[in-house]
Order: sequence, then C-alpha cells, then structure tokens
Amino acid sequence: MSLKKTLSIIKPDAIKSKYHGKIVDFLENKGFKILAHKKLKLSKPQAEAFYEIHKERPFYNDLVDFMISGEVVVQVLEAENAVLYYREVMGDTNPEKAGNDTLRKLYGRNIQCNAVHGSDSDDNASKEISFFFNKLELIN
Ligand code: CMP
Repeated sequence: MSLKKTLSIIKPDAIKSKYHGKIVDFLENKGFKILAHKKLKLSKPQAEAFYEIHKERPFYNDLVDFMISGEVVVQVLEAENAVLYYREVMGDTNPEKAGNDTLRKLYGRNIQCNAVHGSDSDDNASKEISFFFNKLELIN
C-alpha cells in the first residue's frame, strides 16, 4: 500500500455555513488521515500566489476575492492515491454536476463557492503542502 498526501482547503463559503465539522467527519469516514489542520485567513498576495496557475482565467480576480472573504481551513490528507481519491470525494468543480455523496454536492453552492479545494497532481500537492505547512507541522 502506498500512502500519499494531498492538500485540502475548506473554503470561506463552507466555513461561514458552519460545515467545517461535517466536512472533517466526512473525510474521516472516507478513510483519510488528517496529518495537519489549521484555520487561517489568506491575505490578497497569498491567495494570488496560491492560485497563480489560474492567473489568465476570467474568474481569477473573483476567485481571489472569494478566497480572502473569510477564514479557510487548510489540511494535509493522507490516503492511498490521495490526490485522485480526494478528487473523487470532492466531486466535480461545479456542485450541480457533482455526484451524490460528494463534498461539493453536499456542501457547495456554485462553481466558485464550491466548499473545498484539492490538489490536482502529486507534484502540485507537494508544492501546495509546502505553501501552507512546514515539516514540523506534519504528523509524518
Ligand atoms: P478549485 O478546485 O479551488 O480550483 C480553482 C477554483 O476556481 C475552483 O475550485 C473554483 O472555486 C474556481 N472556478 C473554477 N472554474 C470556475 C468558473 N468557471 N467560474 C468561477 N470560478 C471557477
């Protein structure tokens, strides 16, 4: 069994709707180990840097404003094939298209306010984890 890590963000819409506890429960029931977990409020430069990959997309400025509109919870999740598995557990980016029993179907509001973020590759997971956490903050 090869355990891998991915980065999750519980976004401002889900924190404001008090879904934080429900999402943590859901993740543990799906078999993820939470290796690190913290609540913070992103600054504009931090949100711009985190989503730099989407800089040229028409939704970039709105996405940055949304991500700094309230507190977020960032987590390092561990599971077998964590990146792919978490993408399944999150469901489609657009909650309307997400399958039943996925986080975005249950807790997302629309394509922007979609409750959670997850890394899209192992390489990006490493970069995103280092963006938020140092080694001392990780259980393993
Ligand atoms: P996330 O998985 O965090 O990655 C990029 C984010 O951009 C995505 O979730 C959504 O919050 C947002 N996003 C993606 N596509 C769109 C879109 N078409 N319109 C608005 N926001 C989007």
